[in-house]
Amino acid sequence: MTLTTQIANQHFKSCLMNAAGVHCQTREELNEILDSQAATFVTKTATSQARKGNPEPRYVGNLHGSINSMGLPNLGIDYYLDYLSELDRSDLFLSVTGLSKEEIYQVLHKVQDASFNGLIELNLSCPNVVGKPQTAYDFELMHEILIEVFSFVNKPLGVKLPPYFDLVHFDQVAAILNQFPLSFVNSVNSIGNGLWIQDQTVAIKPKQGFGGIGGAAIKATALANVHAFYQRLNDSIAIIGTGGVASGRDAFEHILCGASMVQVGTALMEEGPQIFERLNQELKAEMTSYGYQKIEDYRGKLQYMEG
Ligand code: SIN
Repeated sequence: MTLTTQIANQHFKSCLMNAAGVHCQTREELNEILDSQAATFVTKTATSQARKGNPEPRYVGNLHGSINSMGLPNLGIDYYLDYLSELDRSDLFLSVTGLSKEEIYQVLHKVQDASFNGLIELNLSCPNVVGKPQTAYDFELMHEILIEVFSFVNKPLGVKLPPYFDLVHFDQVAAILNQFPLSFVNSVNSIGNGLWIQDQTVAIKPKQGFGGIGGAAIKATALANVHAFYQRLNDSIAIIGTGGVASGRDAFEHILCGASMVQVGTALMEEGPQIFERLNQELKAEMTSYGYQKIEDYRGKLQYMEG
């Protein structure tokens, strides 16, 4: 029985890791992920300069779900590149973005020129920066950005997408993504701009309470996005499934929908890095119950009803 998987010629000992934003802002947090039974880590999404993010409270969660409006607090691209160059490993993910297309190019030029030899996750889907739309909901802009990015980046790069809700949008997005040598697509970021109410008041402070929804509440949407892109993307583009993973069964369903790697957000926030030991065990138990020895035995093999 093995949970090993592969993305862009990198081999991983397991198919479970953190989602960008959770337990990955500082080198101490990232070291704790490395010390856990996670396959690897992805850093907090880095911008050109350090950012404090939005005012607190900006995250509220429990085992059923979460709302956040963090606003991309991070220590800046130089911090993460320094740390990653010390580690000097090719199986780690660096998440990056910019608040404009120019900033995205600036950050990626730095990453391209640095000694970093891992995988780049370009976040095109943060819903929490005041006044900034989610890039990947503007298909023309996403296309333009990818043309420029692939004109100078030749390190393994994938994109983190927001959830889509319309079959025609899946077709349109896949048609754009299939034009590029993407190593992976990560579906999904939080469902943007939900509201949580406690007593009579919004649960978080920024943006009058509007924030990204994660956790169990978004599993159905996440699975649909993973499977829709699995059906539409070139075989060379691996899929990372993110959204609503709190048990081995949840991870199993993401893999059944086509995910090669599964990221954990809200449940990691609630349980801490020891969650990976439990998830690895539960996923193995789920696979055993179906007679599967490795994730390639069932990845993408979701069954449909006849007739
Ligand atoms: C945030 O920092 O606001 C969350 C990151 C994201 O949703 O991409």
